[in-house]
Amino acid sequence: MSRFQIKVPATSANLGPGFDSVGIALSKYVTLDCEPAEAWYFSVPEEDRPYIPSGKSNLIYKTALFTAEALGFDSLPPTHVEMTNDVPIARGLGSSSTAVVGGIELADRLLNLELSRYEKFKIACDIEGHPDNVGPAIFGGIMVSNYDGEQLDYVPFTDGMEQLTWLAIIPDYHLETEKARGLLPVEIDYKEAVNNSGSANVLVAALATKNWALAGRMMQSDQWHQPYRQVLIPGFSSFKEVLEKEGSLGHYISGAGPTTVALFDEWNDGKEARLKETLSDFKVEPLHVNLSGVQTLVPASEK
Ligand code: HSE
Repeated sequence: MSRFQIKVPATSANLGPGFDSVGIALSKYVTLDCEPAEAWYFSVPEEDRPYIPSGKSNLIYKTALFTAEALGFDSLPPTHVEMTNDVPIARGLGSSSTAVVGGIELADRLLNLELSRYEKFKIACDIEGHPDNVGPAIFGGIMVSNYDGEQLDYVPFTDGMEQLTWLAIIPDYHLETEKARGLLPVEIDYKEAVNNSGSANVLVAALATKNWALAGRMMQSDQWHQPYRQVLIPGFSSFKEVLEKEGSLGHYISGAGPTTVALFDEWNDGKEARLKETLSDFKVEPLHVNLSGVQTLVPASEK
């Protein structure tokens, strides 16, 4: 086995009413530099060490082993994995999905599995339970998908996405997905569900036809999860006025939160400076679509 590098993009899921079904890959990355070793070891960046284990309880390793076993192998060649992490943990930008997708890619490479993107997606759904983060991390761009526990249906698309800016407003605290899912109702009124489903349909059609203003409006029309979750994001109710003043087309809670993402079809340094100043309690980062999804790179000297 030679040295290689796996690069997995961050993701933003839901985009408002596309709950558990719509997501986009964004320009923040986890990179895994891998080389043969005597024993498994993950070198984790210092600030992530309280949350990410360096041994076999690491989610990347557990996912790689799950993948290996699903394909009939019972072990993986010991590897030293050096992690570089630009995706904040438990903030709604797909950090656990980067670990799952990275782990599947790692097994694929170590065991020469040559899995298709669909096969990787299916394994990732079996682990994550919902497809909206792992799908775009594997394929890049926007992914619209549904997974009922057996059947996985999906449509990726990227057309026109490069022109957009996805502004991430990132609080400095963690929010576990489990906690944010715990706030959701067990049942929803039939009429409300029909209405929400309509908003989600229009969101997807608007994104696919590059009607950005309509997509932005739909992001804010969600009633599936955002009304229940915004209590966990102090300041959320004040974002609308601040963002619209700078021309944002709409904003939504990214994944389970606590990050909010705002959509812009026009962006410039002035907007960035003003929003960073106004939203100084948050890390404010303009992001762009990632079009490739997860990538494995092998240095020329190792080929
Ligand atoms: N769709 C998921 C949720 C994304 O909103 O809970 C987080 O994993």
